[in-house]
Amino acid sequence: MKALTILGSTGSIGRNALAVADHLPSLFRVAALAAGSNIGLLVEQAVKHRPALVSTGDEAGAREFLRLYRGPGLRVVWGPKGAEEAAVLEEADIVVSAISGLGGLRATLAAAGAGKRLALANKESMVVAGRLLREEAKRSGADIVPVDSEHSGVFQCLAGVRREEVRKIILTASGGPFFKTPAEELEGKSVEEALAHPRWAMGPKVTIDSATMMNKGLELIEAHWLFDAGPDELDVLVHPQSIVHSLVEMRDGSVLAQLSPTDMRFPIQYALTHPRREPPPLPSLNLAAVRSLEFFPPDPEKFPLIDQARRAIEEPSSFSIALNAGNEEAVAAFLDGRIRFTDIPRVVMGVLDSHRGREADDLEDILRLDSDARRAAAKFIP
Ligand SMILES: NC(=O)c1ccc[n+]([C@@H]2O[C@H](COP(=O)([O-])OP(=O)(O)OC[C@H]3O[C@@H](n4cnc5c(N)ncnc54)[C@H](OP(=O)(O)O)[C@@H]3O)[C@@H](O)[C@H]2O)c1
Repeated sequence: MKALTILGSTGSIGRNALAVADHLPSLFRVAALAAGSNIGLLVEQAVKHRPALVSTGDEAGAREFLRLYRGPGLRVVWGPKGAEEAAVLEEADIVVSAISGLGGLRATLAAAGAGKRLALANKESMVVAGRLLREEAKRSGADIVPVDSEHSGVFQCLAGVRREEVRKIILTASGGPFFKTPAEELEGKSVEEALAHPRWAMGPKVTIDSATMMNKGLELIEAHWLFDAGPDELDVLVHPQSIVHSLVEMRDGSVLAQLSPTDMRFPIQYALTHPRREPPPLPSLNLAAVRSLEFFPPDPEKFPLIDQARRAIEEPSSFSIALNAGNEEAVAAFLDGRIRFTDIPRVVMGVLDSHRGREADDLEDILRLDSDARRAAAKFIP
């Protein structure tokens, strides 16, 4: 039986990871849970799964947690240090990294450094610290298995394939809620409309990233680090049904594809059980019911952030940090009603155009570059 640490257990991925653990109770138990401010749900999860360690977002959250529940032998910690403690917990075999945004970086790096199986959902960590994460994993012997459905698909297609025989890695995109919206109507789109994703139920940040297609840009950078792929080996196809999660084109023109129902429990389960396969968490795919699978090229005029991510792959690593920070600030401002939907790419491009790139050295340097880029973003946000 494998012991799990779930970082971001109260979020969309975290809850699905716990559902997979419930589905395969003879294979998995929960060793630690880390979350932010949803203390009520964290208590419910702790009561049900009996972890040895729980981490809350801050000290007040830990006090609130202990007021509601004191499990036998349960330790309660908090803050970034607490999440890091959960990530390196001796008894944990697998760490699901699903804290949203850069808040998950320290704990994700710590898990990679501690030689754990890292089931990686927090793509932002790979975007800003791809080199460092890979080095940490190599040094400690940790294996990184992607949770993002597209990268899980590529990972599965690449099993048993000789890397030099791969010509292209193609990530699919649902196109988000505005795939069919004329470009001139995007400006007036509200937060509610941007959050109404047609296929996936996800947290707010990643849902807005999906609406701007920045999500695909971040995923291109993630794929670059996970699969050692240059920008000319990476492509995006819009596939509104979200059944084909990615495709790998081989040197001889064959294309391998990975398909599964549109539910994150599938890639999460694979990240936990790899290289084994276990019974599915939900009914498997019925292609006869799906009937048609469509593919379209993305529109770079309407969704310019995919090209900005390609640019970041070609530039020194601080560009990816600036891209991510500018985007996080812009998305937060949009969600708060401070900027319009079409201002999100404007803020990100403003940050990148004023950025002077260099290679980031270490975690502290990455965090410094991140703060600088957030300050730069503030100049473009009223
Ligand atoms: N959702 C998806 O389908 C999906 C797919 C692919 C990749 N991802 C990636 O997976 C990650 C999580 O996405 P999500 O959709 O699950 O996000 P979400 O629903 O917003 O959940 C975020 C989780 O992180 C916790 N958290 C946030 N800031 C924290 C902090 N500073 N310290 C500790 N915990 C903190 C939240 O805790 P509280 O809620 O308790 O505050 C929550 O548990 C993101 O990087 C996203 O890009 C998600």
